[in-house]
Amino acid sequence: MKGNELVGYLDGKVVAITGAGRGIGRAVALDAAAAGAKILVADYGVGMAGEEPTSDVADAVVKEIDQLGGEAIAVAGDVSDTAVGQKIVDTCVESWGRIDGVVCVAGILRERMLFNMSDEEWDDVIRVHLRGTFSLFRPASAVMRKQGSGSLISFTSGVWALGSVAQANYAAAKAGIVTFTRSAALGLNKYGVTANVIAPVARTRMSANVPQDLAEMGDPEDVAPMVVYLLSDKARHITGQVYTVVGGKIAVWCQPEEVRAMYTDGRWTPEEIEAHLDSTVGTEEMPLLAKIKEYEAAAAAKKATEG
Ligand SMILES: NC(=O)c1ccc[n+]([C@@H]2O[C@H](COP(=O)([O-])OP(=O)(O)OC[C@H]3O[C@@H](n4cnc5c(N)ncnc54)[C@H](O)[C@@H]3O)[C@@H](O)[C@H]2O)c1
Repeated sequence: MKGNELVGYLDGKVVAITGAGRGIGRAVALDAAAAGAKILVADYGVGMAGEEPTSDVADAVVKEIDQLGGEAIAVAGDVSDTAVGQKIVDTCVESWGRIDGVVCVAGILRERMLFNMSDEEWDDVIRVHLRGTFSLFRPASAVMRKQGSGSLISFTSGVWALGSVAQANYAAAKAGIVTFTRSAALGLNKYGVTANVIAPVARTRMSANVPQDLAEMGDPEDVAPMVVYLLSDKARHITGQVYTVVGGKIAVWCQPEEVRAMYTDGRWTPEEIEAHLDSTVGTEEMPLLAKIKEYEAAAAAKKATEG
């Protein structure tokens, strides 16, 4: 556990964290416990692609928290099963009388080019990430609404906005999580419940499997303090936000909006659109597509000189 700066920050709070057995979820669980929260450690204990579940992974983190003087309970089910989501929330309420925070970190990867992607690879990734967030947010928000307080925190990735070459399933799930969480922020604001999203980058087994050179990198422990802050009473004014957290950097994402428009009286024809679109509304550059084009041009030039 970290030092004294966390002590008391989340005193009396009850927080359920999915994916808390490894990586970023584990770091969040340990920091939130150090800050005084009671922790429900939810983790299915699966491999990177969601295979071979074991309860050992969640149990090990509960043990770590116990040994450090904290209080924790493990639930080792699949969070994309809504019965498991309900059980996690019920366990918090039955054991500790309330639920103040839900942090949905659990995730898997099934990397594949779109033209080769199976139904299963699509469904499993959407199910674990997107339904796995709904599965917790729904029952938790019902309790939080009655309490008049609570923090919902989901996990996305930069690919939610940038897109991904070989992870269309993952990018779609992560974009869904952002809009789902923003919708939760809108619907629950009047009940005192906040909903925010973290886009982390951290050295874990998951990032080790992503074939890209990340300019920004950090550790899971760098992500945890921002989550602890958002769970606290000090962050009640923050809702509907997406924050990148990597190493020593915290950045807020813009709220997507229209940037340029053109108008006609009545309805546009294709020919009129052809005549006006490029010079008025135009397009917005996809940053990753520009990068891919650069790589492709460099590779073609290299091949030409070698050949
Ligand atoms: N590590 C990064 O750089 C990075 C970047 C962008 C986004 N993220 C996101 O952050 C989150 C955490 O990633 P990580 O790198 O710590 O991953 P990780 O693989 O280290 O940990 C994920 C945990 O989720 C658990 N899990 C998977 N499926 C589950 C299910 N159905 N039910 C319950 N638990 C399940 C796994 O057992 C594992 O312990 C993920 O949502 C990931 O998409 C991570």
